[in-house]
Amino acid sequence: MTILVTGGTGYIGSHTATALLQQGYDVVVMDNLCNSKAEAINRIEKITGKRPAFYQTDMMDMDGMRSIFRDYKIDAVIHFAGLKAVGESVQQPMRYYYNNITGSLQLFQVMAEFQVKTIVFSSSATVYGMNNPIPYVEGMPTSATNPYGYTKLMIEQMLMDIHHADPAWNVMLLRYFNPIGAHESGLLGEDPNGIPNNLMPYIMQVAISKLPCLNIYGNDYDTTDGTGVRDYIHVMDLADGHLKALDYIQKHPGLEVFNLGTGHGTSVLEIVKAFEKASGKKIPYQIAPRRAGDIAAFYADNTRAVNLLHWQPKYSISDMCRDNWNFISKNPNGL
Ligand code: NAD
Ligand code: UD1
Repeated sequence: MTILVTGGTGYIGSHTATALLQQGYDVVVMDNLCNSKAEAINRIEKITGKRPAFYQTDMMDMDGMRSIFRDYKIDAVIHFAGLKAVGESVQQPMRYYYNNITGSLQLFQVMAEFQVKTIVFSSSATVYGMNNPIPYVEGMPTSATNPYGYTKLMIEQMLMDIHHADPAWNVMLLRYFNPIGAHESGLLGEDPNGIPNNLMPYIMQVAISKLPCLNIYGNDYDTTDGTGVRDYIHVMDLADGHLKALDYIQKHPGLEVFNLGTGHGTSVLEIVKAFEKASGKKIPYQIAPRRAGDIAAFYADNTRAVNLLHWQPKYSISDMCRDNWNFISKNPNGL
């Protein structure tokens, strides 16, 4: 089977492409490299011994996408490509709506032209909004608070409508919680541009002294130690979730929504301690005001994915910190 991985040189896409190749799938990667580097393809080859086909193509370029579908008989698409920085989406809403929504729509149009009707989409826990009780369950009402979140909601809706109009479409909506960790080889990992917004990439920059100190956004939340609680999941467990989703959809055509999280919450201070232990480095921190838009705590109810996909996250928080440290210490300047 040949899988087109959009966004396949990015963080989650590159780890998933590796897992797909190791599982015997043929992989074609498409990415415009706006937030990643072609070096990821070399790293994927180093790990797997197989080099995926790579197209530096933008979702805005329909003819470019058509030539991929002409060159390869694609059986399914795993769609990671998109812009993902929440704060930036508030500053640049048009860019986010254009890239994520128009881009995805064009991809789906090209898929339809070539009769490719199986898609796994990278959605996010952000679609649960601010008001649901925890843990989050797939059937809960969805909402958004920023343009990035609206793009996820809208793409989910587009795929639901496409499936409704033509049930031959097989759609997997995977809602990721907080992916961290890196490939155990140290060859692949998260390599964000500029100053990171998310917790683990920030801690990694502090650990290698590129940034002086972590700001912990609030220690007065109603959580065990007052700091924010999230459901951190190892990126290789997430990659495995995509393999299980592909297996499932071949046996059970239709549309499904799955949470991919561990079902456990970990606080910011617990992450800092776990990282210090895994790396042997001190992470200086200071308590800063709460970050606008943050909520105290959320984590997944992953029962559906565990029961239906037969997926079980394997990695602990200390494994995640070990692999992040291994990656950043081997690649202090990224890929
Ligand atoms: P990433 O930025 O590392 O990967 C996304 C890739 O898409 C990048 O390589 C980028 O160059 C590419 N891309 C963006 N716009 C494109 C376009 N128009 N045409 C072609 N390629 C384009 O991000 P990631 O963390 O690997 O996230 C992958 C997907 O998962 C995204 O859709 C993201 O919204 C979603 N997601 C991520 C997280 C997270 O915390 N990392 C959580 C939930 C959901
Ligand atoms: C991010 C996304 C969200 C997505 C979720 C799961 C943002 C703003 N939001 O949120 O859309 O649904 O991942 O993929 O990117 N923290 C600090 N100091 C820092 C950075 C973070 O204390 O420098 C804290 C935060 O307040 C939070 C926790 O660490 O409590 C995790 O933050 P982050 O990694 O940004 O993820 P989310 O806020 O969950």
